[in-house]
Amino acid sequence: MSFTLLMDGANADVFRSLSQFLPLDGVTTNPSILAKNTTISAEEQLVRINEVLSPNQPLHVQAIAETVDGIRKEAEQIRNAFEREICIKVPVSTEGMKAIKHLVQDGVTITATGIFTTQQAFLAAKAGASYVAPYVNRIDIQHGNSMEVIRRIRQLFDTYGMPARILAASFKNVRQIEEAMLAGVHEVTVAPDLLEVLLNHQGTDAAVKQFTNEFSNAFGEGKTLFE
Ligand code: G3P
Repeated sequence: MSFTLLMDGANADVFRSLSQFLPLDGVTTNPSILAKNTTISAEEQLVRINEVLSPNQPLHVQAIAETVDGIRKEAEQIRNAFEREICIKVPVSTEGMKAIKHLVQDGVTITATGIFTTQQAFLAAKAGASYVAPYVNRIDIQHGNSMEVIRRIRQLFDTYGMPARILAASFKNVRQIEEAMLAGVHEVTVAPDLLEVLLNHQGTDAAVKQFTNEFSNAFGEGKTLFE
């Protein structure tokens, strides 16, 4: 089984910068993320983020419309705007599920999003969604148990041989990410600031500083191993 690490954000510069030191596989966005940047249009943000991705790096873009016809129309617009496969995110509302059934029939890759329960994930996968996105922190703050939801989704997918991948979202700390991975998710999408926390540790910084100080105290300032 492969694991996929995604950035939950729409800033192309941030993705490029984080990609220099993190093994990022692609990007997810949602309307709230796009709404944080009003200096350029949502469309322009998507164009720019697509430009920094290679064609085989997944880009998940969410439909904003709430009706089945609106979602289908928007999905078509999103797909027409890019010359490569885009994963269309659709919330698992009643209208969303109607749209998912049509879009799957049309061969569209669907990311069923806004998932709070095992049952929602199961139904979306059965309807043909390629990805299901449980909202970890939002489940937990509404008195749910996100990790149990994930474990059960994974168990059902394995039991019934469902190919949908669990793409967990809505993380507020790095422990949630690790727990979700241990609970069996295939993918996580993480906000840029939390991606940095995933790597950084003051113990590492202190160790590096100590190595440098002890070496330069012994051999002289600026000295390296062979110079
Ligand atoms: O894409 C869905 C995810 O970003 C939601 O996360 O942090 O708004 O709960 P959050």
